[in-house]
Amino acid sequence: MSISLKTEYLGLNLNNPIVASASPLTGNVESLVQLEKAGAAAVVLPSLFEEQIEHEAQEVHHLLAFGAESTPEAINYFPELASYNTGPDTYIQLIKDAKQVLGIPVIASLNGISRGGWVRYAKLIQSAGADALELNIYFVPTDANVSGDEVEQRYIDLVRDVREVVSLPLSVKISPYFSSPANMANKLIKAGANGLVLFNRFVQPDIDLETMQMVSQLELSQSSEARQALQWIGVLHNRINASLAATGGIHAREDLIKLLLVGADVVMIASSLIKKGPSHVSKLIEGLYDWLGGYEYASVGQMKGSMCYDHCPNPKGYDRSNYMKALVNYTSKSA
Ligand SMILES: Cc1cc2nc3c(=O)[nH]c(=O)nc-3n(C[C@H](O)[C@H](O)[C@H](O)COP(=O)(O)O)c2cc1C
Repeated sequence: MSISLKTEYLGLNLNNPIVASASPLTGNVESLVQLEKAGAAAVVLPSLFEEQIEHEAQEVHHLLAFGAESTPEAINYFPELASYNTGPDTYIQLIKDAKQVLGIPVIASLNGISRGGWVRYAKLIQSAGADALELNIYFVPTDANVSGDEVEQRYIDLVRDVREVVSLPLSVKISPYFSSPANMANKLIKAGANGLVLFNRFVQPDIDLETMQMVSQLELSQSSEARQALQWIGVLHNRINASLAATGGIHAREDLIKLLLVGADVVMIASSLIKKGPSHVSKLIEGLYDWLGGYEYASVGQMKGSMCYDHCPNPKGYDRSNYMKALVNYTSKSA
């Protein structure tokens, strides 16, 4: 029996549901080609950061305001970012290069929170030939005067502003911390998003006790983290009119299968690729194929969403009673 792994994401027809998420591995043409060879159905380029866009704007402003002889001291303003992703112009070139060598869709990514230069860069990204644009909105509301409504409105305004200037398929990589994620999902779709990526992985700070400094160190994910996306994709599948991508903690074929069962259109992976290299994509594809065959599914489409909130035999597992059950079971097991 031939099994179809095909899926659709943001209106793009993909050969399978595995997408290489934004990471250093998607930041150069060589590894992009390896990812495509290993079977990745699409790639998301690393984000172009708001700080890089602002930095460029500041330099331009500086030159205009003070004359060409002045020194743009901001040139090394964001050295860390420069080594990850060398700025707007190089970013646009990466899109063009990727489009030239790859046959699979290339999704660009913008990261930030304010309107800033996003609108301009969204247009440039579209002109450079990206197949879609992911808005990676990363905002940590530390100001006690900013209300939840205001935070939500920032997301919505940003999506609406970008939507007004591009016709590209648009996805939004969102935070898991909204009061009502399903309601927020609907608002973002109304503002013009064609898909949602669940969830952005926030970097929690730590303290270095020797230097007494706050430090931020990115750790690669674990499989258990995938449950956050599993829960909310399961709730949203069938209930919103948009594509759904899962990201965070997808390492083994079991993680991938569970996310598809609750209704993800694609899974986006980064940590497992960094740990195991691009060839991990082919192992996941093989694993998915074997699993579908073992359960006599003819396609990914047939199994997708069969365990979502609306379809699974015990939807209560998704909500409050699940919490109580988990507590009770743990107590009785350990007693
Ligand atoms: C080293 C590294 C760099 C990343 N850079 C970006 C980025 O530029 N933009 C973005 O939206 N996500 C970025 N991410 C997040 C990943 O795309 C992904 O959503 C997240 O790591 C969760 O997936 P995972 O568990 O498979 O790693 C990065 C992750 C890692 C590990």
